[in-house]
Amino acid sequence: MPRLIPQSVYRLAAKHSPLLPYFIPACHNLAAAKQELHWVKQELPETQWLDAARLRKQHYPLQYILGTQPFGELDIRCKPGVLIPRWETEEWVLQLARVLSPIVESKQNYGILDLCTGTGCIPLLLQHELGSTIKQSKPQNVRTIGVDISPLAVELARKNSQTTVLPTQFVQGDVFEPQTVMASMHEMDFRPDFITANPPYIPRKQFEASRFEKSVKQHEPELALVGDSEFYRTLVEKWINPMRVQGFVFELGEVHQCEYTRDLLGNDWDCGILYDSNSQVRCVVGWVKGGEYETLRGLCQKVY
Ligand SMILES: C[S@@+](CC[C@H](N)C(=O)[O-])C[C@H]1O[C@@H](n2cnc3c(N)ncnc32)[C@H](O)[C@@H]1O
Repeated sequence: MPRLIPQSVYRLAAKHSPLLPYFIPACHNLAAAKQELHWVKQELPETQWLDAARLRKQHYPLQYILGTQPFGELDIRCKPGVLIPRWETEEWVLQLARVLSPIVESKQNYGILDLCTGTGCIPLLLQHELGSTIKQSKPQNVRTIGVDISPLAVELARKNSQTTVLPTQFVQGDVFEPQTVMASMHEMDFRPDFITANPPYIPRKQFEASRFEKSVKQHEPELALVGDSEFYRTLVEKWINPMRVQGFVFELGEVHQCEYTRDLLGNDWDCGILYDSNSQVRCVVGWVKGGEYETLRGLCQKVY
């Protein structure tokens, strides 16, 4: 049974501002509602405040209303039909950038491929972090490419790239059919050294269960959410192995997905689990034993 918000909270909210009660159902408490109303007033013209409040009452995501989501130092554009970047992803991307920085600095050229890229938030932030931490005197040596099956996502990711100092290229393609993307990468003279991915990882049964968050289910694309082991198998067998990449980070939501990925890797690989700051399983991290990516071990709270 869903918990009801006491009427007293709505009364208190109305005393503060007639718009504030609209934000209570999605925000659950007064402090969070006040924060959201503050952002709406700060970022939208007054003529749009009431419409924004009405949409929020229907649990319409704030990022689609405001049009952006902060992600590290970047402001990532968001629009309906493309998954909103999450803080959990931002957290591991920043950690990964710190680990990759000395490796990237020691190379002439370095390529990062991000599969299932959505808004492009992962390669754009990696490019931004690695480009700005590496000595200014050095020529820019990092190249990032993002791939997504959704034309809407690729269009948005390209727009996002236009607003960053260091651009990322985006290719439309299906991870299950890598030949076309690989041909494009060949034409672009791009070879990845490292692969990241945040594929759809919510098992269908879980997605369909009534307790699954309504605002996500109703307003964010199912294509970006529902998936399971098939993605991890493809990432390893059709991308990591043929491209002879020596390190990767894949976001996931379940320990079984981590164990499944570990079992697909050969004996020359080590692999671990990265937990987020909420103590939830967040990524499977892999590196070739004794290679230059041993430092990825430092990202993992558990190594197999
Ligand atoms: C969980 S979202 C991640 C988006 C983004 N990387 C992020 O972290 O916010 C998964 C993305 O995978 C894309 N996708 C789903 N199936 C795909 C496929 N077969 N090939 C490539 N991309 C796919 C979706 O369009 C969606 O943008």
